[in-house]
Amino acid sequence: MGTLKGKDILHGNQFSRKEIDAIMTTASEFETELKKKDTLTLLKGKILATLFFEPSTRTRLSFEAAMHRLGGNVVGFSSAESSSVAKGESLADTIRTVDQYVDLIVMRHPQIGSAQQAAEVAVAPVINGGDGAGQHPTQALLDLFTIRSERGKVDGNTIALCGDLKNGRTVHAGVELYKHYDCKLILAAPGKLSMPESITAALRQHGVRVEETTDLEAALAQADVLYMTRIQKERFDDPHEYERLKGSYVLTREMVQRLQPDVTVLHPLPRVGEIATDVDDLSNAAYFRQMRNGVYVRMALMALVMGCV
Ligand code: NCD
Repeated sequence: MGTLKGKDILHGNQFSRKEIDAIMTTASEFETELKKKDTLTLLKGKILATLFFEPSTRTRLSFEAAMHRLGGNVVGFSSAESSSVAKGESLADTIRTVDQYVDLIVMRHPQIGSAQQAAEVAVAPVINGGDGAGQHPTQALLDLFTIRSERGKVDGNTIALCGDLKNGRTVHAGVELYKHYDCKLILAAPGKLSMPESITAALRQHGVRVEETTDLEAALAQADVLYMTRIQKERFDDPHEYERLKGSYVLTREMVQRLQPDVTVLHPLPRVGEIATDVDDLSNAAYFRQMRNGVYVRMALMALVMGCV
């Protein structure tokens, strides 16, 4: 399984189907092992840096938990203000510094392409924990793992991606994984928040069946998997435009039960109203299990990149 050893994890399009399969299988194995033991020792002595220049709850904490579960250690910061970037240090110098201390770096940064820039100066592998409106490959992998575990397989599913597809980095990375499977994609976005044309054109070129709509109910009616996303407030230049679009899509319990009682509902979280809380106790609501899966998938990715499985 050695192909990910030493690699940076920057973009959903970098993975071969074989690599995706290795990550999924390894994550399943960790899920099983963690039912027997709290902590493993595979990455004992290794240090992960978590460099978060943008807010995060799940990505940072699940990476840290994953490293601890593998027996390794973590250093890092959770805001630019608490690092020397606040004194004017460049990203390249910050990365060169951290690179002297650790074996692996996870970074989240508001600029598209920042993870790539970090990877160019670091000797340690860099994992992209979200680069602006660009990519978020580890979230996409845990989404895929969740579809597999909730529905038994990925092939044959119609996956509806709904919400801010223009700015959502999780969906930009997700489609790069789904294209390896026999899935139909429905892209549902309000107003001007549709998936960038360059991405849909490349998917169609690749032979993926892609349908676009602005109607959430129409998407739900066809979906096996409904992947809701948040309107990405922080990416809007015009706050009025955000205010106009923010409540566009709200998934309710009634809609699930009326239109698609067997649908699997996912969300990378945080949600800001786009899934009503009365959906939470339906068996369809997989978004809390999805978070837990993030730990297994990030364990798998780190163990593979470090060459320890
Ligand atoms: C996502 C992100 O940061 O892109 N969150 C996450 O990592 N779970 C989704 C979002 O912020 O809307």
